[in-house]
Amino acid sequence: MDRYETMPYVRCGRSGLRLSRVAFGLWHNFGTYDDRANMARLVTRAFDLGITHFDLANNYGPEPGSAEENFGRLLDSELKGHRDELIVTTKAGHLMWPGPYGDWGSRKSLIASLDQSLRRMKLDYVDIFYSHRPDPETPLEETMGALSDIVRSGKALYVGISKYSAAQTREAAAILKRNGTPLLIHQFRYNMFTRGIEKDGLLDALEETGAGGICFSPLAQGLLSSRYLDGVPADSRAAKNAFLKTDTITPEMRAKLARLNDFAVSRGLTLAELALKWVLRDRRVTSVLMGASRVSQLEENLGFLQKPDLGSSDLEGIEGLL
Ligand SMILES: NC(=O)c1ccc[n+]([C@@H]2O[C@H](COP(=O)([O-])OP(=O)(O)OC[C@H]3O[C@@H](n4cnc5c(N)ncnc54)[C@H](OP(=O)(O)O)[C@@H]3O)[C@@H](O)[C@H]2O)c1
Repeated sequence: MDRYETMPYVRCGRSGLRLSRVAFGLWHNFGTYDDRANMARLVTRAFDLGITHFDLANNYGPEPGSAEENFGRLLDSELKGHRDELIVTTKAGHLMWPGPYGDWGSRKSLIASLDQSLRRMKLDYVDIFYSHRPDPETPLEETMGALSDIVRSGKALYVGISKYSAAQTREAAAILKRNGTPLLIHQFRYNMFTRGIEKDGLLDALEETGAGGICFSPLAQGLLSSRYLDGVPADSRAAKNAFLKTDTITPEMRAKLARLNDFAVSRGLTLAELALKWVLRDRRVTSVLMGASRVSQLEENLGFLQKPDLGSSDLEGIEGLL
């Protein structure tokens, strides 16, 4: 199978684990009300294109938990026999079940949530288990202690954190190190429009601690593609007006997207390819974690792997357009 020939696999921080440069996320399009045949097409095409890394969380759906159930079905059908070629992740830390234990980062929540995720996916272990967000009310020692114990119990091979600040990341990594469990990876939002991690110095913290970095929503949920150049298509994420609000697509935003699109085309790229190249321009970003609602988007987006990297004049040009 030539699936491993075009995708680069990059060492995650200072660990021994190599991750596909592109990971595929199941936040949208894998829930109770989505088309199962489309899910199978997306996951098998992603794998055939060399994506080995599939990102989930306890609450992905809707209904919460349904993305894990649907992915579990695919592991048992289209992906059967390939478990050892895959990196499967899940997370806990956002609201999942009622009462005081179905949210945030206590030891009780994390361990119970992972047990539920494993049952939904019919797995014995996940490759990476994440604390989905920092919990201001639980001691970091407790959250990190739970992650270390989860690795020791064999229910996850590695651990990660998501949306922690640079300072919280340094502290979390130090606690994990004392526990004998390295911090493998940090998952953060990063794209041309959302650049908080630059001010916070998160990538410096990752380099210091030896963790890798994976950035989510690299296309700003689809804004940084051709999706909204001519309006808001009825079948788009913005049309659902939930996580991406319709009122984000202002005339100013559309003018900016048109400028960026013209710039991409002048460099032989689509806007989505430009956005993916842009987030991967820093070698401390191990992987880009994207979503897609159809196979044609996946295929278009992965074209960036065959195109030359952006030079400093390209990067300056982009800054002038943002
Ligand atoms: N750790 C966290 O807290 C966190 C938070 C958010 C996400 N994540 C992870 O990151 C993953 C990716 O997030 P995301 O889905 O927001 O990423 P994204 O790649 O920025 O957006 C993906 C969406 O953009 C649209 N799109 C993609 N390629 C396109 C193309 N070529 N042309 C037109 N439209 C295109 C599609 O939306 P439509 O076709 O539906 O319009 C697609 O579902 C998630 O699945 C999840 O695993 C993690």
